[in-house]
Amino acid sequence: MLESELKIIEQEVRNCTKCPLHRSRTNIVFGDGNPNAKIFLIGEGPGFEEDKTGNVFVGKSGKLLDKILEACNFSRSKHVYIGNIVKCRPPENRKPETVEQAACLPYLEKQIELINPKIIITLGATALQGLLGENLKITRERGNWKLWMNRLVMPTFHPSALLRNPNLKKDTWEDFKKVITKYRELVNSEHFCKHF
Ligand code: URA
Ligand code: URA
Repeated sequence: MLESELKIIEQEVRNCTKCPLHRSRTNIVFGDGNPNAKIFLIGEGPGFEEDKTGNVFVGKSGKLLDKILEACNFSRSKHVYIGNIVKCRPPENRKPETVEQAACLPYLEKQIELINPKIIITLGATALQGLLGENLKITRERGNWKLWMNRLVMPTFHPSALLRNPNLKKDTWEDFKKVITKYRELVNSEHFCKHF
């Protein structure tokens, strides 16, 4: 069963010592949402609140992400599953190192394989580069559909970038409108969104 297969991987992550981040973690942050969701969102890695609680995107960025999803009429418990490039918090919220990302990527790949989403959304430069290639530029790639393992990927900004620079919200909304359109094409033609 899907849930139990995810639990097995989560347990593996709990015991993981493949990179130095395990030494400073309080909790792993495996990811959460509906395992049957058709949309898989990928962030960078746990921050302070996430490390403390073990829950994904629960800090300031998470609150903004909730608002964005709400604007699309996507709920966290029904329409999406959310994971990160690395499952343990990088000290001082620094960007995860390439070796740390490489050590952790197989867990994300298994999550994606099991959940089998129609649409993947990468949030920010780290998720884009971690999944699709380290030379990619977020400012150039965002808003354009890409393919990863035959799956559609929409790169967009990270909510923390929007908190630093609210001017990026307009582009982000354009990216999410493309996701809504694709969701109507591939998943539910009736998906209602009062803003679009
Ligand atoms: N930022 C991320 O990229 N992921 C989280 O889980 C929280 C904040
Ligand atoms: N820089 C980042 O790291 N992420 C963004 O989303 C935008 C700029």
